[in-house]
Amino acid sequence: MNSVVIVAAGKGKRMNSNINKQYIKLKNKEIIAYTIDIFDKNENIDEIVVVIRKEEEFFVKQVINKYKFNKNVKIAYGGSERQDSVYNGIKEVDLNCDIVLIHDGARPFVTDEIINNSIKETKKNKAVVVGVPVKDTIKVIDDNNIIKNTPQRKYLWAVQTPQVFEYKLIKKAYEKAFEENYYGTDDATLVENLGYNVKMIMGSYKNIKITTKEDINFGEEILRMR
Ligand code: CTP
Ligand code: MG
Repeated sequence: MNSVVIVAAGKGKRMNSNINKQYIKLKNKEIIAYTIDIFDKNENIDEIVVVIRKEEEFFVKQVINKYKFNKNVKIAYGGSERQDSVYNGIKEVDLNCDIVLIHDGARPFVTDEIINNSIKETKKNKAVVVGVPVKDTIKVIDDNNIIKNTPQRKYLWAVQTPQVFEYKLIKKAYEKAFEENYYGTDDATLVENLGYNVKMIMGSYKNIKITTKEDINFGEEILRMR
């Protein structure tokens, strides 16, 4: 069986809004509702765990009651960093799970194609992340803003979610990270630290993370284009 852990327990500071960004509506529907909906309807997903802030449980329950998802939506509570939240989610996943997808609640435009492809690739490679080739040239700078080097663009991809792993592998990677008090900026890093090859596969330029106010407009535009 395959489970998805959707993390929605951040504070959304960059959004500068009075409610958590995940509960902001795009075309009359909460961002988190789009995200849950796509996994709810996907036939390769058997279990959904949503990681939330305890004080926002009321909002999540409201969303769950309103959209009447087909699958049971399990709730876990988040922690201070994304990594803490993911770990709490992984701990709630059914022990019979084969593959875990970790996905940002703030990425509502993930598609069935991306989900299915990532699961298919994980069966071959155990650890897969979705991303897109960067369009800009990326510079590495120092603390004084002096450019240190310019990596070849063809090797640079911007990482998205889902990040998808064999359950046993991601559990081991998270346990090791917490034992060593190591914090990475994404899930794949923890698996890379175990010495595994993580495969990058194509996501979509529309699979954006809603982070700032401009992303709300862009998100509504993506919905209009559908
Ligand atoms: N997240 C989480 N728990 C945290 C931090 C983040 O579950 N302690 C989740 C967010 O809710 C989001 C995803 O991880 O869906 C990606 O994080 P990000 O876009 O950075 O969201 P926030 O941390 O909420 O936003 P900001 O960094 O602007 O405060
Ligand atoms: Mg954040």
